[in-house]
This record gives sequence, structure tokens and C-alpha cells, in this order.
Amino acid sequence: MRNVTKDNITELVTKALSKDIPPRNRQIMTSLIRHMHDFCREVDLTFEEWLAACEFMRRAGDISDEKRNEFILISDILGVEVLVDMLDHRVTEGESESTVLGPFYRENPPVLPKGASIIKKHFENSQTVRVSGRVLDTAGKPIEGVTIDVWEDAPNGLYDLQDPEQPAYNLRGRFTTDAQGEYAFVAVRPEPYPIPYDGAGGELLNYMGHHPWRPGHIHFMLFKDGYQSLISQIYDADTKYLDSDSVFAVKESLIGKLNKAPSGADTDLVLVFDFRLKRAAAKTLIAAE
Ligand code: BEZ
Ligand code: FE
Repeated sequence: MRNVTKDNITELVTKALSKDIPPRNRQIMTSLIRHMHDFCREVDLTFEEWLAACEFMRRAGDISDEKRNEFILISDILGVEVLVDMLDHRVTEGESESTVLGPFYRENPPVLPKGASIIKKHFENSQTVRVSGRVLDTAGKPIEGVTIDVWEDAPNGLYDLQDPEQPAYNLRGRFTTDAQGEYAFVAVRPEPYPIPYDGAGGELLNYMGHHPWRPGHIHFMLFKDGYQSLISQIYDADTKYLDSDSVFAVKESLIGKLNKAPSGADTDLVLVFDFRLKRAAAKTLIAAE
């Protein structure tokens, strides 16, 4: 312990882990310590840089509260949230791909009938879109009674939570699939928007030379007992930033085309997008009984 060197420090710290900790704690801490030490050695980190990183994390903590978690944003900018989501939700049966939840989900959105509009405030020059489709199981059978929460930003690039000028729950709704597994609602064409960059996340974007923009997308959360819940987003095929999303969350299978609506329709555009859900793992089913 007393002859610490830059070469034996990793072994010293991992050996100091208590014998009594759970195996998962040991696995995570051993790997974390090894990777952090290797990182410091690899970049030959200076004391000043280490201190700057600690101060950066302090600022991230200072700006965080129950409504804003800057650490999630930082993990998004580093591609960590999308990576963890892919590790924890591996596609195994052809089910729809998931992607990041983001910080703007709001519980208990208005419960609306099939086909209803989620628009509570009109914005000039915005386009309306009827979004519809089916929710199927992995064998292609429609699933009735799937709850679908949807949310999106307004044409000014802000979610209701960020904009006191928008009514609460603007552009949010909860729908249920019918006997044919169908869902439908009226929304606005989603606009690209910058992720919050007024805090430590913004500092990190600057350090990395990245812009904060996300491509236009609509968020979806699907759930029904007996099926694995799905948190995902549909991306407008014609939006900017599809190839440079600031949080790396775009997947080809989640891109949908907003087509011109047929004449006589009551929206400007239509988007048809089907989801596939897989059955929940057996242990979840037993636990739910
Ligand atoms: C979002 O899509 O709402 C989002 C995702 C990650 C970071 C910020 C926003
Ligand atoms: Fe979003």
C-alpha cells in the first residue's frame, strides 16, 4: 500500500474492494477503476484538467434538480444513454427498435380517443399531420389495448414544459389501440430543436465542437401487460440533423415519411408507422401474477 506507483495504483485500488460486496458491485467497480486509470495514463491527464473535470461535474450538480438532470444530458451527449438502451433492450424477435427517453416525458398525459388531436395551441406556419398505424406482435398479429403515450415539441422548438406560453400538456396524449391494433392522432410536424445547452451539457458540447440540435421527431411510449414496453421515437424522413443528432439516437428503422394528405383530408400531412412488440420475459409474467 505504501509504495504506490502509476503502474501499481490500479491493482492497489481494485484489491481494496471489500470481499463482502455483491459480485455485480465488484464487476462494475473493477472495470470502472481499470478504465478510468487507463484513460488517465493514456491521455497523460494533467492536474489542471482533472480539477476542471471535477468543477465541471460540480456545475452539472448545481444546475440539476428534480426537474432537470444534467448528468442524463451529459450521458446523452456522450452517446451513453443510447448505448445502455441498446444493451438493455436487445432486438431479438424483430420487435421495433427503442431509443432514448429524453428529459421531456410527462406522466399522465390527457387520455384521448382514437384520431383526436394533441394540438392545444396554434402556431403560424406549422403543418398538421395525422399519425396512424398498427401495433403488432412479433408474429404480425394486431394487439388490442396497447396504451400509447405520445409527446413532441411545438413548432417553436420547445416542449410545453419549457415554454410558459404553451398550455400544459400541449402536444401530449395517451391513446389505446383498437381491436385491429390501430392507433391514430393528429399532431404537428415535429421541428428540430436544440437540447438544453445553458449548463454543463452545453459546455461539453463546446468542448467537443458539437452543435446541440436534434432532428424532428415524435416520442412514443407503448405498454401493455404481457408485452415488453417500448420507448421510442419516429423521425421525420425530411428533417435536418438526421445524420448529426446531438444525442446519437436516430435509427434507420425509426424514420417515417410524412406524405402530403389526400385532398379533402383535415390535416396537411399523413404519417403511417407500425410498431411491433415482443412478449415480456417469462419471469416478468410470473412476477405480475
Ligand atoms: C429528447 O428527444 O427529447 C431528448 C433526448 C435527449 C436529450 C435531450 C432531449
Ligand atoms: Fe424530443
